[in-house]
Amino acid sequence: MTEHHWWQRGVIYQIYPRSFQDSNDDGIGDLPGIVSRLDYLDWLGVTALWLSPIYPSPMADFGYDICDHENVDPRFGTLADFDRLVQEAHRRDLKLILDFVPNHTSDQHPWFRESRIPHSPKRDWYIWRDGAPGGGPPNNWLSEFGGPAWTFDEASARYYYHAYLPQQPDLNWRAPQVQHVMHRVMRFWLDRGVDGFRVDAIHMLVEDEQLRDNPLNPAWRRGMSPARALLRRYSADQPETHQLVAGMRRVMDEYEDRVLIGEAYLPIDRLMLYYGESLLGFHLPFNFHLLSTPWNATAIAALVRQYEAALPVGAWPNWVLGNHDRSRLINRVGGIRQARLAALLLLTLRGTPTLYYGEELGMRDVPIAPEQVQDPWEKNVPGLGLGRDPCRTPMQWSSAPRAGFSSGVPWLPVSAESGRVNVEVESQDEASLLALYRKLLRLRHAEPALSVGTYRERGVDRELFIYERRYGPRCLMIALNFGTNAHPLPRSAAALRVLVSSDAARAADGREDGRMNGRVDLVLRGLEGIVALCL
Ligand code: NOJ
Repeated sequence: MTEHHWWQRGVIYQIYPRSFQDSNDDGIGDLPGIVSRLDYLDWLGVTALWLSPIYPSPMADFGYDICDHENVDPRFGTLADFDRLVQEAHRRDLKLILDFVPNHTSDQHPWFRESRIPHSPKRDWYIWRDGAPGGGPPNNWLSEFGGPAWTFDEASARYYYHAYLPQQPDLNWRAPQVQHVMHRVMRFWLDRGVDGFRVDAIHMLVEDEQLRDNPLNPAWRRGMSPARALLRRYSADQPETHQLVAGMRRVMDEYEDRVLIGEAYLPIDRLMLYYGESLLGFHLPFNFHLLSTPWNATAIAALVRQYEAALPVGAWPNWVLGNHDRSRLINRVGGIRQARLAALLLLTLRGTPTLYYGEELGMRDVPIAPEQVQDPWEKNVPGLGLGRDPCRTPMQWSSAPRAGFSSGVPWLPVSAESGRVNVEVESQDEASLLALYRKLLRLRHAEPALSVGTYRERGVDRELFIYERRYGPRCLMIALNFGTNAHPLPRSAAALRVLVSSDAARAADGREDGRMNGRVDLVLRGLEGIVALCL
């Protein structure tokens, strides 16, 4: 086991800092708030915390528009608070991962202000182009958040490119100074003790030099994101990206045992390239495919098979079930029993799992009234269900007012379910989702078979998906029933002792052993998943 890194053995927990814990009653979560909740995270049993951006920002995209890379936004605290967070996390043996946003900055960043001046030395730090010969933007590219990806700048009489909001101009990574200065930013935080970065929107880092028009997407339909009307052939996932990732990795490798994680929504074959040549790219290119795969045994088993088969030799897998850009898991999979099954899947697959805050409680998307909308995406493209506020609401700590998140008015509404779905209530209930997460996290920690063992598919039988995790002689069998009907485990399965079930009603005692050769057969209940020891 010792030959594995912490980021291979462990589990990552994503914190959306605005929504985790407020310490100064302004309705916005902050770093001292996170420090005050470290004991909870330690108790829960996660390994590393990844914080969405904490840097000074006008908050046009809630921190993904940075105007100073080497400081902390006053809403979140100070650099001293940050240092304390690192220290307190490390004291509990928790790692700290920051968001690194290389694709763009805020339009309020001093670099961009300077770049707007036509002959300034920073002119080529961003992507400036003349309009098309007949007028209008240089090409047909679209912003992810709606509208064209080009904005005309009166001051410099040219267009600048932004893959996201106009307030998020894209940096030009072909400029050597941009690479240099962004590497310096990484070192600034690595020197302060961070254990890694989650690199934002890496597939958007480089664009076609000739700025060719993107082709139409034949699969686009009304109701889908307007940005998807075009295929991003020339504006995303360009081959030059890989050498730039390798450059970031070289910076990480100047330090001991840090992790580099990449955010890229790409098909599996394209994603694999982000491990880099000789695995010198990302340690973990985020695997988001569970977020979009139909929730049934056949589709999930096929995904795992395809992903496992595509991994380059020596590459470490990973799985993500939720984040601050997607609907809450429970809304996606249909209900609490499905969410329990999903937890069991996530924490027993081979590869590093990433949990999104509140998923361990079963937090749901919170309905957001039109006047409460904060997310710029929903504001720009309303009514299509693209808004991300519902999954970013305050963490539900207790039955106290505002769920114990803040004494002020929270920046987003607190769930109406918070009196029931919260840490205080669930930590006292053995049958809660929180108790299940904690059990699974403990088991994963205690069983090398789960954290670093091999994976073998044992079968997909109607609604059942069965696989085995092995480490030396130790063998664990995982069986998941995605259907609502009970199913006996197939006869070929070995004798088993259930260690954990996602079904709170099943007692994990000796009576639940499944003796395949003669005696009691193990019957999985509807929507039940189990982790069992092969006897
Ligand atoms: C991906 C982030 O996860 C998302 O929240 C953000 O809006 C975009 N990148 C732009 O930075």
